[in-house]
Amino acid sequence: MYLYGASGHAKVIIDILLACGNSIDGLIDDNQNINSLLDYPVYHNKFDYSPIIVCIGNNSVRKSIVEKLVGEFGTAIHPSAIISPNAYVDVGTVVMPGAIINSGTSIGKHCILNTCVSIDHECTIEDYVHISPHATLCGNVKVGEGSWIGAGAVVIQGVEIGKWSQIGAGSVVTKNIPDNVLAYGNNCKVIKKL
Ligand SMILES: CC(C)(COP(=O)(O)OP(=O)(O)OC[C@H]1O[C@@H](n2cnc3c(N)ncnc32)[C@H](O)[C@@H]1OP(=O)(O)O)[C@@H](O)C(=O)NCCC(=O)NCCS
Repeated sequence: MYLYGASGHAKVIIDILLACGNSIDGLIDDNQNINSLLDYPVYHNKFDYSPIIVCIGNNSVRKSIVEKLVGEFGTAIHPSAIISPNAYVDVGTVVMPGAIINSGTSIGKHCILNTCVSIDHECTIEDYVHISPHATLCGNVKVGEGSWIGAGAVVIQGVEIGKWSQIGAGSVVTKNIPDNVLAYGNNCKVIKKL
């Protein structure tokens, strides 16, 4: 497996892949000054390595890199994650230690489900979403493409979060959130348009 993005986030994904028994063939990074990470080689200006996982935390940057790549995408799911046999996880997505994904939930492409997230039944998580550590999504929550849910946030059942929005750490989201906004707090309010 190749990884695009030689960062701290990539270090976590390397741990996940090794825990699954996968081997790491190398990394790719735009920064010409980075030539190794954890003793793995880092290459530059190559877009055809395959299979590959894009290891970049920023959702819009991750999407722009994915759109440049021509190979197949891999996934990384830590063995300690609990994923219902009736849940679906699409390619390019990484699922970190302790995550729980319950029945009927669908996770899109190139998402990050970070450490110990809890995603309950029948949620829909679109492509390029990042759910930060310890966030909780109750049942039937929908998160639109590219949105970022901050660490420890709680989204109550049935709430819909739009595309490319950001929910601050520790927020309690009880009402729908539109596209392209920053929102935070308990009770979670829209702070500004992005
Ligand atoms: C919501 C967030 C993106 C806002 O960042 P920002 O726009 O740079 O906000 P600032 O740091 O300038 O803070 C502005 C004000 O909002 C408050 N604030 C910021 N984030 C808040 C949050 N999550 N909940 C409540 N208040 C918050 C600040 O305390 C500050 O208040 P003040 O004006 O009274 O001092 C950021 O604070 C956050 O929560 N990020 C998520 C981090 C995370 O989950 N990381 C996980 C990575 S894996």
